[in-house]
Amino acid sequence: MSGNIITIDGPSGAGKSTIARLAALRLGLRYLDTGAMYRAVTLHCMRRGIHLDQPKEIAGALAGLELRVELVHEGPMRVFIGTDEVTGNIRTQEVTRNIHYVADVTEVRNYLVDMQRKIGANGDLVTEGRDQGTLVFPGASLKVYMFATPAVRARRRFNELKERGQDASYEEVLEDVSKRDYLDMGRELGGLKKALDAVELDTSELSPDQVAESIVKLAKSRLKMQTRKIDKSALEAMKRESKKQD
Ligand code: DC
Repeated sequence: MSGNIITIDGPSGAGKSTIARLAALRLGLRYLDTGAMYRAVTLHCMRRGIHLDQPKEIAGALAGLELRVELVHEGPMRVFIGTDEVTGNIRTQEVTRNIHYVADVTEVRNYLVDMQRKIGANGDLVTEGRDQGTLVFPGASLKVYMFATPAVRARRRFNELKERGQDASYEEVLEDVSKRDYLDMGRELGGLKKALDAVELDTSELSPDQVAESIVKLAKSRLKMQTRKIDKSALEAMKRESKKQD
């Protein structure tokens, strides 16, 4: 591994995506969204009509999968299955609900961990997920574990859904958040947990800018990294479009 790798792990709704992208932008690093990779494999299986309760079928579907990601400077990561761009298609509720079947399959995890390590081989990366600091990049230069209370995460998600005109009650969203925590933390391989040497950041009371700034400061003091000046309008555009369901 050459160059710096910063890992950001944590539960869904902790604000990892926006914060990881902001930090990557300021530090001039590439940004890898590993959740998007699990989403893409899930979409591939759904399109193939795979029985999602059959791990062997899911593992078999990897043989015909041509998954490609494009790490874009100052943009969201782009995801392709073959020549088909699926960057937007992987964000539906249906995909989100089905991910756990796919993320539990050892062959899928090995396949994606291998891809992630190849991408990380050149360093200069901020990578976001559940197992990046523990399993994928145990030798990372800086590890962050980001969290917020389930109530705060559910409130953020509820507000996002409302903004998009989607119908859901706060109680439903809270239940959904708790269920995903349970599934993510209980996963045998690649389950969500804090690496022993990770810095913990509670994002409950902080804005994405404040959290990203803490990471940038850590990178500057610990890794002696430099920051770049970022155009304000580019920054605002990035924040608007990175408000994904995480
Ligand atoms: O970050 P996200 O919400 O887009 O991730 C979607 C799901 O993918 C998440 O609920 C668990 C799974 N995931 C995983 O198992 N390991 C990762 N490194 C990233 C995501």
